[in-house]
Amino acid sequence: MELCIALDLPSKDENLALVEKIKDYDVWLKVGFRSYIRDGADFIKAIKAINPDFKIFLDLKLYDIPNTMADAAESIMGLGVDMFNVHASAGKRAMNTVMQRLKKYEKRPIVLAVTALTSFNEEEFMDVYNENIAKKADKFAHDAYESGLDGVVCSAFESESIKNITSREFMTLTPGIRPFGEDAGDQQRVADIDYAHSAMVDFIVVGRPIYMAENPAEVVEKIIRKL
Ligand code: C5P
Repeated sequence: MELCIALDLPSKDENLALVEKIKDYDVWLKVGFRSYIRDGADFIKAIKAINPDFKIFLDLKLYDIPNTMADAAESIMGLGVDMFNVHASAGKRAMNTVMQRLKKYEKRPIVLAVTALTSFNEEEFMDVYNENIAKKADKFAHDAYESGLDGVVCSAFESESIKNITSREFMTLTPGIRPFGEDAGDQQRVADIDYAHSAMVDFIVVGRPIYMAENPAEVVEKIIRKL
């Protein structure tokens, strides 16, 4: 299991100050919409300048027509990130087109699919997808698997069932982790490291328990020792 730290602080400087504090650890860093839209490719370069061995997950959740998604995936290749994601609800043809387009590269990033956004409640989800969340999340995961993606973003509570219907090697990356049972904040359901282990999770995403801590490096160290 690997640790992916969410760089969710309000400014580039604050995010880079956090990266500086944890630069000696072998971890993944998650760059999301907010930072990428504001700070762009320079932000990725600045992270790599602090430590070129940091692995970066670009969390932009692509969703568009197949050709546009594949074009975007090729642009992402140029950024030198190690993982990115797309929405499974863009469909199998879109996911297939992305994976086909990346075939010409000797080395490509890990590509994950978002199944069901965890912010949906059942009623809202039904309104959009006309299906219940658990059933549709499994279907999306299976679609992503058949389209040649490497894994999915899901809740730790879905990880085991997704591996059962796809493959043990099909990766799961799970936000909503409170490594040692810390405050859940606005997360509805949180899992700790022991649970993530038991559910065969490949990547845990941790944000607030690290960046809100007085000593983020100490928390990272403690988590890594348990991975
Ligand atoms: O601070 P916390 O550990 O809750 O951060 C979790 C990170 O994972 C945030 O960047 C959040 O946007 C992201 N995320 C999530 N739930 C999802 C997808 C992404 O919490 N379903």
